[in-house]
Amino acid sequence: MAISVSFINMKGGVGKTTLAAQVAHAADKAGYKTLVVDLDPQSNLSQSLLTPEKYVRHLKQRKPTVVQIFDRYMPPSDEHESPREVDIHDVIVKKAGYWHHSRLDLIPSRLELSHSLKNPTGKERRLAKALAKVSDEYDLIIIDCAPTESILTEAAYFSSRYVLVPVKPEFMATIGLPLLARSIEEFNMENEDHQLSICGIVFNHSSSYSEGPEGRQSIKDVKAEAKRRDWHVFETHVHYSASYPKSAREGTPIGNTSYVRWEVTKEFSNFSSEFFRAIGLAEDK
Ligand SMILES: Nc1ncnc2c1ncn2[C@@H]1O[C@H](COP(=O)(O)OP(=O)(O)O)[C@@H](O)[C@H]1O
Ligand SMILES: [Mg+2]
Repeated sequence: MAISVSFINMKGGVGKTTLAAQVAHAADKAGYKTLVVDLDPQSNLSQSLLTPEKYVRHLKQRKPTVVQIFDRYMPPSDEHESPREVDIHDVIVKKAGYWHHSRLDLIPSRLELSHSLKNPTGKERRLAKALAKVSDEYDLIIIDCAPTESILTEAAYFSSRYVLVPVKPEFMATIGLPLLARSIEEFNMENEDHQLSICGIVFNHSSSYSEGPEGRQSIKDVKAEAKRRDWHVFETHVHYSASYPKSAREGTPIGNTSYVRWEVTKEFSNFSSEFFRAIGLAEDK
């Protein structure tokens, strides 16, 4: 059974998508069979794994996305003249990773996801139900979430064992954390059979500004909050590097991004090893 982790922070721009893409590449490289689910209608993760060109082609060819998992049916197409029930295997893009021998699979998103969830009643468990059918085929399932709390957050909770919280060290970084804590606590109370917990907080310096005094104060505040709540804080910080936005554009793992510095690659590799250990993935390899 795969270990499933949602990347969540109610703030945007903290690095959820960047880390999801890079952890996915790292897992692929380490030989963990990985499925990435893009649950953000903005679809940045789909674009950075597939490259923007391939992603646009995917949409133009009217290939399925995570939207079909929530709709539970596939619309009529050239091959099938009437709608039919969705099979999660139809929605998975195989070998979406960078390497030739990639075993990284992707369930892409699309902007219409937010529209199709305007009427969300009863849809919150559909993703989890679909993933349960393929969970045996993977070691790791990574779910990238949108910053606002919605039925998509709940769908991610139902589909996850762990939540990873990327935090950008900046003024007021701690504000969203109690909200997230409460949201997870409430979820666990309402769903006693389900175990969801935070596997850790990772500091991601998504702007060079967060390396300054404001950033240092914020790190202290977040660490204090984490200690109060007994949350793990990852030792490795992901520091600012212009190679991260570049990796998204190039569709590359950080280590294969053009002109990347060795320290940046090494640092990310340290973080991903720490992450695999924290979720218990590294033990059986
Ligand atoms: N460590 C980093 N160094 C430099 N830029 C980063 C870093 N992490 C993220 N970014 C950039 O910051 C922006 C927001 O990151 P993103 O991963 O999209 O955040 P989120 O998914 O939380 O909204 C993107 O342009 C991304 O390329
Ligand atoms: Mg994002």
